[in-house]
Amino acid sequence: MHPQNIVILGTGGTIAGRAASASDNIGYTAAQVGVEELLAAIPALAQAGTVLTEQVAQVDSKDMTFAVWAKLAARVSHYLAQPDIQGIVITHGTDTLEETAFFLQALLAPAKPVVLTCAMRPATALVPDGPQNLLDAVAVARHAGAHGVVAVCAGVIHGAADVQKVHTYKLDPFSSGDAGPIGYVEEGQLRLLRSWPQAEAGRAQAAAKSIAGLAGAVPRVEIIMNHAGAGGAIVQALQARGVQGLVVAGTGNGSLHHELQAALLKAQADGVKVIRASRCAAGRVLPTPADTIPDSEGLSPVKARVSLILQLLA
Ligand code: SIN
Repeated sequence: MHPQNIVILGTGGTIAGRAASASDNIGYTAAQVGVEELLAAIPALAQAGTVLTEQVAQVDSKDMTFAVWAKLAARVSHYLAQPDIQGIVITHGTDTLEETAFFLQALLAPAKPVVLTCAMRPATALVPDGPQNLLDAVAVARHAGAHGVVAVCAGVIHGAADVQKVHTYKLDPFSSGDAGPIGYVEEGQLRLLRSWPQAEAGRAQAAAKSIAGLAGAVPRVEIIMNHAGAGGAIVQALQARGVQGLVVAGTGNGSLHHELQAALLKAQADGVKVIRASRCAAGRVLPTPADTIPDSEGLSPVKARVSLILQLLA
């Protein structure tokens, strides 16, 4: 059978980064190299069937915006609807990759694979990791039966709901926490450990219709943290600025300093949507009958924020 097309959408990140010196792995500028140029550095990709490219954005992912997400979701939906497109790869910075992955999965639940990939070393490094990650991501996008939004980095396939950046420097900076990875890419072959993210037939097409309008009216949802000496002033200040949603990264099992809790309960009574996550890197907030603020149902603070924005938009 003739291999179907793969689309690679460029959004920037370190994978597209340039440094003045090849030995400089941190003093670079992200989002400089175009997606076409990234591809040209990987001759093996040309042998793997047709690969189309589109530069959707060119940003350091620390500067990711909802407007870029809306544009990206619209382009992903567009390509998902093409019968000759088997899967989509998105090049992205590692810093907010987990948020973009979760956003796309929550919004589109695609029945084809949408694979985010990245790098921890710039394209100009002595040994850049981007080319192998991109090659691995294309192998995942070409895999028969793959679906949903996943991230591929350092040979590991992570689901959108679980992936989290847990290291500042290592070439393998992501973890899927307690859930573990979906699988591994080894010499272009997939070794799968568990199932792909959920796919929902027709969701991407339905969402595509509403995507264009999303960026115009993004509700303001902020993340705050519980810590020693936390108080309620930050909540009051945000309420005064018209915040519509608050995610609190609680300590341990989502516990809150009593002053912060009082301010959050007041905000909740005033109509602000409040969600309680945990600042712990692993585990989830376990609900108890005494809870007065709903928990994030296993989502990390950044993903709970995305989820709350989508809820408020709906
Ligand atoms: C970014 O997130 O765009 C920069 C950092 C990285 O990609 O590792």
